[in-house]
Amino acid sequence: MIWRHLVLFSFLICHLAIAHFISSTQPLCHHHERSALLSFKESLVINQAASSYPSAYPKVASWKLDEKDRDCCSWDGVKCNEDTGHVVELDLASSCLYGSINSTSSLFQLVHLQRLSLFDNNFNFSEIPSEILNFSRLAHLNLSRSYFSGQIPAELLELANLEVLDLSYCDFDNFFLKLQKPGLATLAENLTNLKALDLINVHISSTVPHTLANLSSLRFLSLSGCRLQDLSHNQLTGPIPFGISNLTQLTDLVLYRNQLTGPIPYWLMNLKKVSTLALGSNQLSGRIPVEISNLTQLQYLQLSSNQLEGSVPSSIFELRNLQMLDLSFNNLSGTVDLNMFLLSFKGLDALILSSNKISVLTGTTSSTNMQKFKIIGLRSCNLSEFPSFLHNQDQLISLDLSSNKIAGKIPEWLFSAGTNSLDYLNLSYNLLMDFEHNLRVLPLNKLGALDFRFNKLKGPLPIPISVFTSSYLVSNNQLTGEIPPSICSLNGLYALDLSYNNLSGMLRGCLGNSSVQLSVLKLQGNKFHGFIPETFSKGTNLRMIDFSSNLLQGRVPKSLANCIKLKFLDLGDNQITDFFPSWLGTLPELEVLILKYNNFHGVIEEPKACFEFVKLRIIDLSHNRFAGNLPSKHFECWNAMKDVNAHNLTYLQDSLLGAVRYPAFTYYGFSDYSLTLSNKGTELEYEKLSNLITAIILSNNSFVGEIPTSITNLKGLRTLNLSNNNLQGHIPPTLGNLIVLESLDLSHNKLSGQIPQQLGELSTLEVFDVSDNLLIGPIPRGKQFDTFEKGSFDGNPGLCGQPLSKKCDNTATSPPEEDPRSESLFAFGWKTVLIGYASGTVLGVVLGHIFSTRKYEWLAKTFRLQPKSNGRRRTVGRHRQLM
Ligand SMILES: *[C@@H]1O[C@H](CO)[C@@H](O)[C@H](O)[C@H]1NC(C)=O
Ligand SMILES: *[C@@H]1O[C@H](CO)[C@@H](O)[C@H](O)[C@H]1NC(C)=O
Ligand SMILES: *[C@@H]1O[C@H](CO)[C@@H](O)[C@H](O)[C@H]1NC(C)=O
Ligand SMILES: *[C@@H]1O[C@H](CO)[C@@H](O)[C@H](O)[C@H]1NC(C)=O
Ligand SMILES: *[C@@H]1O[C@H](CO)[C@@H](O)[C@H](O)[C@H]1NC(C)=O
Ligand SMILES: *[C@@H]1O[C@H](CO)[C@@H](O)[C@H](O)[C@H]1NC(C)=O
Ligand SMILES: *[C@@H]1O[C@H](CO)[C@@H](O)[C@H](O)[C@H]1NC(C)=O
Ligand SMILES: *[C@@H]1O[C@H](CO)[C@@H](O)[C@H](O)[C@H]1NC(C)=O
Ligand SMILES: *[C@@H]1O[C@H](CO)[C@@H](O)[C@H](O)[C@H]1NC(C)=O
Ligand SMILES: *[C@@H]1O[C@H](CO)[C@@H](O)[C@H](O)[C@H]1NC(C)=O
Repeated sequence: MIWRHLVLFSFLICHLAIAHFISSTQPLCHHHERSALLSFKESLVINQAASSYPSAYPKVASWKLDEKDRDCCSWDGVKCNEDTGHVVELDLASSCLYGSINSTSSLFQLVHLQRLSLFDNNFNFSEIPSEILNFSRLAHLNLSRSYFSGQIPAELLELANLEVLDLSYCDFDNFFLKLQKPGLATLAENLTNLKALDLINVHISSTVPHTLANLSSLRFLSLSGCRLQDLSHNQLTGPIPFGISNLTQLTDLVLYRNQLTGPIPYWLMNLKKVSTLALGSNQLSGRIPVEISNLTQLQYLQLSSNQLEGSVPSSIFELRNLQMLDLSFNNLSGTVDLNMFLLSFKGLDALILSSNKISVLTGTTSSTNMQKFKIIGLRSCNLSEFPSFLHNQDQLISLDLSSNKIAGKIPEWLFSAGTNSLDYLNLSYNLLMDFEHNLRVLPLNKLGALDFRFNKLKGPLPIPISVFTSSYLVSNNQLTGEIPPSICSLNGLYALDLSYNNLSGMLRGCLGNSSVQLSVLKLQGNKFHGFIPETFSKGTNLRMIDFSSNLLQGRVPKSLANCIKLKFLDLGDNQITDFFPSWLGTLPELEVLILKYNNFHGVIEEPKACFEFVKLRIIDLSHNRFAGNLPSKHFECWNAMKDVNAHNLTYLQDSLLGAVRYPAFTYYGFSDYSLTLSNKGTELEYEKLSNLITAIILSNNSFVGEIPTSITNLKGLRTLNLSNNNLQGHIPPTLGNLIVLESLDLSHNKLSGQIPQQLGELSTLEVFDVSDNLLIGPIPRGKQFDTFEKGSFDGNPGLCGQPLSKKCDNTATSPPEEDPRSESLFAFGWKTVLIGYASGTVLGVVLGHIFSTRKYEWLAKTFRLQPKSNGRRRTVGRHRQLM
């Protein structure tokens, strides 16, 4: 009775309430719609992994045909029209649904649907069936994150009542949906009632159509890309069209990660309701319009990674509502006073000005009610001290002060800016010397990534206390002492880079233990001694191990065979005494093996079966004491070097990161990984390890016998160095098959016969050296051979022709003369060679060769390389005595 009274009461006030009451007493839902829902449920399986949101649960699990559950209008996720009883809303967001949908799906019988959300399920890359047209009343369609793929059907663009359309899914590896034929222009002509359009990562690939002006009700527009890797799949190109100026209801304009060009149009500043403007990662140029201050509602302004220039307009300080300002990675210049940011904005919590040409004045503001920042990015801002406003911070999540000129000690108070919040701390590339009060345990409870590389830090290793730390990078400092045992408690470590310090002592066994996540372990360039611990256990995650340039002794630990994910192993420049560790051949992923400058010795046994080292593409065994014949059977098995895959450039560091993505590159310090390979007295420094680099370097050993022809099957080989051995016989003419060979060094051997004419055909050959052998006859002419200098041929008394001064007579096959030098091959003498390193930006590129400008131009043509914008790089300048 009381209930009835209440209802009657509300009837007087509120129609809706009574309508609702009545609906629950209405007849049950329509029979055919109930069957359609049940068949839809039956056509799919429930799989927890199909949804990724924590709130996910299988809504359809409760859909049943029981007596008491017959009313499908009361089912979870289902809503019916109260008058007609037809299903008008279906919200199956995050419902753990997995399976394919096709045109026969019973879903399309729900023709009265006005709202449909299948957000965050897995429809197994189904195409959106054209039967979507059955939903002619649909106003709200949300297929975001639901694994649909293929072209968006024209029928979807006929759903003229649509107000909300969300087809976004930011996945780094895939484009799922395409909007090409018909494209965005058609969409904009048809769906003129749209209020929200989210097409993040939908592959559009066109200019921004001016027909967007039709969407005059639009409030939310997102047409962003999201892939990092493959820029060739461009999204939107060309300028921001004037038509957008008609979209006066817009509150969110999100166009980042496209290839938009031209200026930021001043008329955008007409869109007075805009609170989010994200135009980052495009190719926009020109100045930031002064009229930006007209966007008084602006809260989120993201213009990073464009080519904007000029100064930061002071009108920006009129944007009182700003919460996030990201102008990083542009070409902005001038001086900016941090005080202005501190005083002008009450709610700013992210300020990112990194990597422009801005000088930031740090000022001395210490106002007490200053805003609390979460993100500060002041990389390359010409800072010479820690900004004093950081004193007042205690909620920082990310602090990047790298690439400045901050000298002296790291103050203790800095850590209180984020003791319980800081996730990312980057102070790399400064002039920091030490920690105030000799702090060694960093009081940062939430620290995920720490980057102190390239400073002048002294003393023992500073260890973060956080159990969350996944990236710890302190390379290129002057740290001393041993690795403290506390490092073993950093269970979440993914990347550990202690390289190029003065650390000593023995390696810690725990680093190879599978209980830690460790994937990247870089300890090179220190003074670690003793044996490499035998503690690499099954299940380790290690992908890269670099122990080079230490004082390690003993053998290669057999337990390394447990590191089945290992891609990169560098043990060079140590005192390891062992036979060739052929058992490493079982590592299925191993791509790079460097054992140079050690005491490896003995004959390299041939493999028993051709399953070994199948992914190997860089091997450097130089400067050891290997003897016997070259391992010709091994050459037959190195499949990765048989591939001339010059088209798809990938990088080792990308594959090291695996699922870990942006901002992982800075997070894990991979932006400047480099590898040095010795070749011909110079060293090649590869700034990034691309899959195109292939090298066999067996120089400075005691190999004997002939050059096996099996090596000439390695058609993807780019560098071959067999110099300084005791090789005999002829140079195989089939070396001419190595069509991408760039560097061939056979010097200081006892090779005889002629230089095969076939080598003259190698158009990419850049470095060639056959000096100090017993070669005879004419030097080939043409192509690259016209560019090699005399030194490439010296020490072969029987050679003749350009560039040597000795002319060839007609009897080219004059009998070989005894080479007086061959006796003294090993007495050749110590030659001090300056290890070359690149002069910076030009070579600080994708492949980073140090050869010559001509070489660079060739690479630039072939791979459309661009010089790196921020040219600071490590230069491991070392002198080395070569023999
Ligand atoms: C997912 O799609 C694949 C390929 O089309 C198909 O073989 C598989 O059966 C589908 N799985 C489900 C659960 O529908
Ligand atoms: C649609 O999918 C169902 C199973 O879900 C299958 O039995 C049927 O053959 C498919 N029809 C078409 C046209 O692919
Ligand atoms: C589309 O709707 C009509 C009724 O309007 C129905 O007869 C037809 O079966 C529906 N199509 C599908 C694929 O369910
Ligand atoms: C799509 O659904 C998800 C989950 O409910 C929601 O977060 C998102 O905002 C929706 N998209 C639009 C454009 O409303
Ligand atoms: C809507 O789209 C369809 C299919 O792309 C097209 O045939 C039709 O002409 C469009 N209608 C309008 C009003 O633009
Ligand atoms: C959409 O815009 C185009 C050109 O901008 C115009 O020709 C067309 O009539 C407009 N359509 C609607 C429905 O407003
Ligand atoms: C854009 O707005 C202008 C003036 O407000 C109007 O004349 C024009 O028709 C609009 N364009 C479209 C395509 O709606
Ligand atoms: C900015 O606002 C001022 C004053 O409201 C107005 O006169 C001016 O035209 C606006 N500029 C733009 C580009 O919208
Ligand atoms: C950046 O601006 C300077 C002038 O300040 C100019 O010389 C340089 O070419 C610009 N660089 C880019 C990448 O636009
Ligand atoms: C290179 O990439 C293209 C497109 O992604 C692909 O079709 C091709 O198979 C790839 N080639 C190699 C050698 O991986």
